[in-house]
Amino acid sequence: MIIETVKELREYLAGQRAAGKTVGLVPTMGFLHEGHLSLIREAKAENDVVVVSDFVNPTQFGPNEDFESYPRNIERDTELALSAGADVIFYPSVSEMYPPGSSTYVEVEGNITRVLCGASRPTHFRGVTTVVNKLFNIVEPNKAYFGQKDAQQVAVLTKMVKDLHMDIELIICPIVREPDGLAMSSRNTYLSAEERKQAVILNQALKKAKNAFANGEKDVVKLTGIITDKINEMPLAVIDYVSILDFPSLKPIITIEKDALGAVAVKFGKTRLIDNEILGYS
Ligand code: PAJ
Repeated sequence: MIIETVKELREYLAGQRAAGKTVGLVPTMGFLHEGHLSLIREAKAENDVVVVSDFVNPTQFGPNEDFESYPRNIERDTELALSAGADVIFYPSVSEMYPPGSSTYVEVEGNITRVLCGASRPTHFRGVTTVVNKLFNIVEPNKAYFGQKDAQQVAVLTKMVKDLHMDIELIICPIVREPDGLAMSSRNTYLSAEERKQAVILNQALKKAKNAFANGEKDVVKLTGIITDKINEMPLAVIDYVSILDFPSLKPIITIEKDALGAVAVKFGKTRLIDNEILGYS
């Protein structure tokens, strides 16, 4: 079932909750792939009712980013989401989510939203936390599902839930990859055949650093160098950042002493791809 308005969704969910049902929420921007579907399956395994939101959120895109061209296909999304176990696809318009005159935002301040993607996309996380807040208020889920693919998003949302005393459990699901290791992303569809081939370097570079770490290398400068050199083997790859930070605080570190996040953002032409691996002891 597709629901397009907040009012109808609330009415439907009130009925479900009155019948004692638990509700899981999977926020997405649509153009679903196996990564999204893994979250939906997990949500279905743990909740009676699963709501998948399918909304390309304008406030998380910068002025020169791909909001207009972001891939959309609600018919295909609906079929895929339902077959993975979704009960409702929430597909609101921009004016439904941001009624004319809206001027309220939710922002996690500090280093955590300024590093990594926050450096090149300064308003991005404010858009994410604002829309996720709206979705939490509309759906009031027991649990909400997010992918480790967007590790900084996970760190920021975890902090938001804690700071604002939200009674919602965040469930973080592992990164789903193509057979050659490329992390699945709706944006992979932008890549030319040659860019697609070279894009495998993101994960190869992170894996190389992970191996070096497993073999005893703890020095962040050296590990960052391993990742950077490997990515630069690909002529079309233009690095936005290569970074190793404490996880989930995203604070800078010099040597890895507890779980750290190795994260990269790399541009191929106009397409910006991200990937990460935990360099950890657990
Ligand atoms: P979107 O990029 O559509 O991703 C929706 C969810 O799917 C996110 O939690 C993301 O981490 C997860 N995901 C994407 N690719 C994945 C992969 N390869 N493996 C596992 N999980 C994956 O992230 C967003 O949308 C938006 O910022 C949103 C949270 C919906 C707010 O607008």
